[in-house]
Amino acid sequence: MARALVVYESVFGDARAIAYAIADGLSASLAADVLAAAEAPAEIGADVGLLVVGGPNHAFGMPRPSTREGAVTQHGAVIADTTTGLHEWLQSVRVPRTGLAAAAFDTRSSGHRMLVKMDHAARTEEKLLGKLGARIVAPAAHFFVADTTGPLVDGEEDRARTWGRSLVGLADFRAVS
Ligand SMILES: Cc1cc2nc3c(=O)[nH]c(=O)nc-3n(C[C@H](O)[C@H](O)[C@H](O)COP(=O)(O)O)c2cc1C
Repeated sequence: MARALVVYESVFGDARAIAYAIADGLSASLAADVLAAAEAPAEIGADVGLLVVGGPNHAFGMPRPSTREGAVTQHGAVIADTTTGLHEWLQSVRVPRTGLAAAAFDTRSSGHRMLVKMDHAARTEEKLLGKLGARIVAPAAHFFVADTTGPLVDGEEDRARTWGRSLVGLADFRAVS
C-alpha cells in the first residue's frame, strides 16, 4: 500500500505546521509520514508513492547556510545545524523510482506584494525534485505568515489540509506495489 512522505524545513514552526496539516489532509486516503529534512532518510522507501516537500522562503529562495545563520543572529532562531536542511537533503536523497509523484510548497511573508512575487523557494524545490526524476503532480502551494517568526495567517492550515487532500487524486500510485 502506497504511503505519502512529507519532508519539511522550518525555522520558526510555520512550515512544520503546514507540513502536518498537509499530511492530515492526505491521511483521509493515504498513510502519511512527516519528517524534518534533518531527520529524513538518505533513501526514500519503495512504499512511498507521493513525496511532498516544503519550507520557508529565505532571501527569496530556499534556506541555505548563510540565511539560516541570519535567522539565528537577526531573529533569535535556534537551529541545531545551519549547514544542512531541505535543499541539501534534496541534493543527496536517493529515490526508489523515476516518476515518483511529488509536490512542493513554501511559506512566505504576507506583506510587500511585489517582493513576495520574487520568492522562489517552491520553484527551486520543484527543480530539485525534477533532478531526482520525480513527477510534479500539482502546482506548488504558497502559505503565508503574518511576520518573520510567524504566526501563520488565519486559515492557512485549513488551506494546507485541503491542498493535501487534493493531492491524493492527482498522484498515480500504480507504480507502487
Ligand atoms: C533570514 C530570513 C530571510 C527571509 N527572507 C524572506 C523572503 O525573501 N521572502 C519572504 O516572503 N519571507 C522571508 N522571510 C520570512 C520567512 O518566509 C518566514 O520566516 C517563514 O516563512 C516562516 O516559516 P518557518 O516558521 O517555518 O521558518 C525570511 C526569514 C528569514 C529568517
